[in-house]
Amino acid sequence: MQRVVCPGSFDPVTNGHLDIVSRAAGLYDEVWVAVLVNITKHSLFSVDERVEMLREVTKSYGNVRIERFHGLLVDFCAANGITAVVKGLRAVSDFEYEMQMAQMNYRLAKVETLFMTTNPLYSFLSSSLVKEIAKYGGDVSGLVPDYVLDRLRARLAEE
Ligand code: PNS
Repeated sequence: MQRVVCPGSFDPVTNGHLDIVSRAAGLYDEVWVAVLVNITKHSLFSVDERVEMLREVTKSYGNVRIERFHGLLVDFCAANGITAVVKGLRAVSDFEYEMQMAQMNYRLAKVETLFMTTNPLYSFLSSSLVKEIAKYGGDVSGLVPDYVLDRLRARLAEE
């Protein structure tokens, strides 16, 4: 059984994330989506909210499970029988940082990282841009699942 993890902040999950998760779900027996609990990073949604949104938008995938983690990703992998990390690569700008983390994770615990090229439809997409555009009233429909779009609008209306 091959269990892999798609780690990240997912603040909030975008259609780009979902594209990678769904393609990984077609390749591996189990895909765990792991939300980093990072108390120092300012986020729009709490970890509980991010986990709940991820569960909602991945509920049609039978082999996708949503979890949270803190500390080192390699420790989370070791504790849960995860052999590889799956990440999306959007552009060359992602490459340097992603390669550094991949090599470090391999150096730390022999955890492999597999990169998937992002669907070109989403190569410009990031959670931070979605938040910024939505904050100023821009249209982010089609960039995040409709469920997340509603949650985003509701959260920004509260501010
Ligand atoms: O969505 P993000 O914020 O780009 O995700 C980054 C993430 C969560 C994958 C990365 O920061 C991470 O793995 N953090 C856990 C701490 C860790 O293991 N750090 C060492 C990485 S080599």
